[in-house]
Amino acid sequence: MGIWGFSCIPIVLLLLLEFCSGSVQRIGNLDPGFKGAQMHYIDNDGMFLLSNNSNFAFGLTTTAADVTQFLLVVMHKSSSTIVWAANRDSPVKNSDSFEFDVSGNAFLESGGSTIWSSDTASKGVSSLQLLDNGNLVLVGTDSTSFVWQSFSHPTNTLLPNQEFSQGMRLISDRGTANLTYSLEIAG
Ligand SMILES: *[C@@H]1O[C@H](CO)[C@@H](O)[C@H](O)[C@H]1NC(C)=O
Ligand SMILES: *[C@@H]1O[C@H](CO)[C@@H](O)[C@H](O)[C@H]1NC(C)=O
Repeated sequence: MGIWGFSCIPIVLLLLLEFCSGSVQRIGNLDPGFKGAQMHYIDNDGMFLLSNNSNFAFGLTTTAADVTQFLLVVMHKSSSTIVWAANRDSPVKNSDSFEFDVSGNAFLESGGSTIWSSDTASKGVSSLQLLDNGNLVLVGTDSTSFVWQSFSHPTNTLLPNQEFSQGMRLISDRGTANLTYSLEIAG
């Protein structure tokens, strides 16, 4: 009795949870036509996509200041460090969606407004990939070029092999006095 009692119930629950949530975390890449909100990915901590090596994740996570507000991020999983964020100054709700549409545009919307966009509609994007080095990239139809990449838009963290050149800026999160620190290379 004990064997059946303990082994069956968890399996049934897992199947039900998978079925009810309707969200399956992707590995490596997302195809055009993807749409996801944090509330549908709670089982995966809001993360839609993992890099192949599972070191990095892409999705929506809460802000430090308010657990009802969310940022679209690339996160280093083992340290829970946000390495790139799309909307640091405009967090969204758990029902707001990230979308990678069939035109190749990646964007975050809230209540009908676009909060952030890669601005890559009709620019020959074939897929969205999270590379093993933490770079989130929109890959062109040639399967090798990057039409957009998070490494070209650093926020507050640089990863190994990420280029930091003139015109780029690293800006810290806002502190308690609403101040930020920034780092840039002057010519
Ligand atoms: C992930 O691994 C698969 C299978 O090896 C490979 O085809 C794909 O290009 C990899 N994707 C990324 C983003 O590294
Ligand atoms: C913090 O500063 C930014 C930019 O100066 C401003 O837009 C924002 O409203 C400020 N936030 C608070 C909580 O004071």
